[in-house]
Amino acid sequence: MEKYVINGGKRLKGKVKISGSKNAALALMPACLLNNGISTIENVPEVNDIYTMVKLFRAIGINSEFDKHTLNIDTSKVTSHVAPYEHVKKMRASVYVLGPLLAKYGKAKVSMPGGCAWGPRPINLHLEAMKKLGADIELEGGYIIAKTRRLKGTKINFDVSSVGATGNALMAAVLAKGNTLITNAAVEPEITVLIDFLISMGAKIKGKETTRLEIEGVDELKTSTIRNVQDRIEAGTLLIAGALTKSNITIEYYSNHLDSVISKLKDSGVKITKGDEEIELNARGLTPESVDVETAVYPGFPTDMQAQWTVFMSLAKGSARVTDNIYFDRFKHVPELNRLGANIEIKNNSAIVKGVRKLKAATVMSTDLRASASLVLGGLAAEGTTDVLRIYHIDRGYQRIEEKLQMLGADIKREETPEY
Ligand code: EPU
Repeated sequence: MEKYVINGGKRLKGKVKISGSKNAALALMPACLLNNGISTIENVPEVNDIYTMVKLFRAIGINSEFDKHTLNIDTSKVTSHVAPYEHVKKMRASVYVLGPLLAKYGKAKVSMPGGCAWGPRPINLHLEAMKKLGADIELEGGYIIAKTRRLKGTKINFDVSSVGATGNALMAAVLAKGNTLITNAAVEPEITVLIDFLISMGAKIKGKETTRLEIEGVDELKTSTIRNVQDRIEAGTLLIAGALTKSNITIEYYSNHLDSVISKLKDSGVKITKGDEEIELNARGLTPESVDVETAVYPGFPTDMQAQWTVFMSLAKGSARVTDNIYFDRFKHVPELNRLGANIEIKNNSAIVKGVRKLKAATVMSTDLRASASLVLGGLAAEGTTDVLRIYHIDRGYQRIEEKLQMLGADIKREETPEY
């Protein structure tokens, strides 16, 4: 096992480049299943969730080769349509192979993902969309067994906006016979880049960046190349690292996908200068104002930044309410942050964060990806030496975050530990 050892309280300075988006890459990879041959995705982060997808691909006969951050995916010899439990249990995004396998091969057997670290995360919307497209779906032995002769265009309205279900429905509909209309589709940047990729393969999709997607099914798709977007959550996490440590840092990040977070940072008193290619943050000498946040679908404040905002507010003046409207129970970081001296109470789906003067080092334990990011942030701000255990969670989605933090001057090390 590995842990982070962080000597907190240091100011950060300098510039780092943001990696490619984990969540976008996890949607782009299964899209390659829709054609036959080698497709290329550039700017893929080297994180464990991507390696889990690579292993799942290997199990179905797909060869994926990493060359630096470029992933070449060869779908010319797909030998199986089964996504086994051993991979799906590690990563829910594995369910993304359902739509493409069904659309291209007419069959898919995908393990049900089960619960996630912070609570239930259903996949009913994915299954309903596949049924609407004409698939027969049965659940057997913990697996989704889906079959069709050919999917047929239909109307799909999502009651709840879902990134994964929109991606799955899109990947299925592009090869269905006839037209599909998806309403209340997700508009997250991960879906927008997926649409770009599908269109570059020859798919016919109208309505990009809107909640209403019109798809005209085609008979086949060709191989293609796409450049992945940058990781908006890694960018936001590093900005908060700068804000929490009262620092002046710059991130190389060129999209507008983080505007909701930047606007909240500005409300807290942090100075942000946004150029075309980079964002400079200056929080020197700042005790932040308390700023309430409610997570929402894009372009609202992302749930994947909720834990990081919570730790930031723990050093603010007064009291802030941080509400998660996407995942009501995503607060496993709160008891751990309180071990660092924060004063946070959970009320329903909100964290009530009362600002304290300082955080103090402790040994804390990661429970999930974004929770572990918040603990690293807490460790950077706390006085003394904080050990963050179970960092395999953070390795799922951040590409060696300690290296980026070290480049900014943080005192953080990865160490082997027998502690579990
Ligand atoms: N939902 C349902 N039924 C479904 C699917 C979703 O009720 O069949 C609900 C969820 O319970 C949730 C809401 O819909 O309340 C939105 O969930 P969504 O489907 O959008 O989430 P996801 O696609 O499973 C992706 C990211 C998550 C991120 C969410 C929300 C990937 C691989 N994962 O998950 O990222 O939190 O969107 O933005 O793209 C992370 O990176 O730490 C992470 C968890």
